[in-house]
Amino acid sequence: MYTSDAILKIKNIEVRYHEVILVLKGVSIEVPRGGIVALLGANGAGKSTTLKAVSGLLKTEDGEVTDGGIEYEGRYIHHERAAQIAKMGIVQVIEGRRVFEHLTVEENLKVGAHLAKTRSVKEGLELVYHYFPRLKEKRNEVAGFVSGGEQQMTVVGRALMTEPKLMLLDEPSMGLAPKLIHEIFNIIQKLNKDEKISILLVEQNAKLALNVAPYAYVMETGRIVMDDTSEKLMQNEDIKDFYLGLTDKGGRKSFRDVKHYKRRKRWLT
Ligand SMILES: Nc1ncnc2c1ncn2[C@@H]1O[C@H](COP(=O)(O)OP(=O)(O)OP(=O)(O)O)[C@@H](O)[C@H]1O
Ligand SMILES: [Mg+2]
Repeated sequence: MYTSDAILKIKNIEVRYHEVILVLKGVSIEVPRGGIVALLGANGAGKSTTLKAVSGLLKTEDGEVTDGGIEYEGRYIHHERAAQIAKMGIVQVIEGRRVFEHLTVEENLKVGAHLAKTRSVKEGLELVYHYFPRLKEKRNEVAGFVSGGEQQMTVVGRALMTEPKLMLLDEPSMGLAPKLIHEIFNIIQKLNKDEKISILLVEQNAKLALNVAPYAYVMETGRIVMDDTSEKLMQNEDIKDFYLGLTDKGGRKSFRDVKHYKRRKRWLT
């Protein structure tokens, strides 16, 4: 659907950890330039692995793209090192809001500054504080002691400091209260719109993701089982059963247990 001007094309990749554990079994995803695309899936489906394959972080975990390819801005990047990929404008906000706990909020933000190409540290900070006024208030506090929501804002802010063209967000809503999730997602949408950052968003919170992203992919055990406009996915019976019906992570069935087997079979063909 987005083939005309995609910033990122993940083309039928296979990923293995430690040379033997096959985790992604042919995954294809496209992110249009300036767009937001969501990647949904249950625990262990391979969502984070997909993002790490793009950012190159896979290599730090002894993982490798063993088939297919990843094209970014017309260049194949799946054999590049993470540092090189970061320089090209891809930033990953990893799962679990990993701040440097002993540094202040502002020091955390400054960590992202060395990758910035045009902005000074001061300009970068101003931009982050413009989008996250809360962080300005907390800038001198030790990051390990600010709230979970503020830590999540800090890691997204740090990513923004790098002047990215493509942001890979791994479950930014995880463990946050609804009000904060709303606040953070509003900002993410603004970053997309005003800063023109393309976004690949991994979420377990399907309702949220489908509201923010106009197009989404659904992943199950290392494969894409569906992709469509969010509008269509929201009306899909299986998505309703599996992703929209139950909201808590623990209460979820396997996607395979959902009754509408015929329909699923059709997606696989
Ligand atoms: N470093 C690793 N070495 C070996 N196997 C791994 C490694 N990282 C992940 N895996 C395996 O790969 C599969 C996919 O994991 P991944 O973290 O990509 O899933 P996920 O969709 O992000 O799940 P979650 O929703 O729990 O974050 C899982 O079976 C996991 O155990
Ligand atoms: Mg994950």
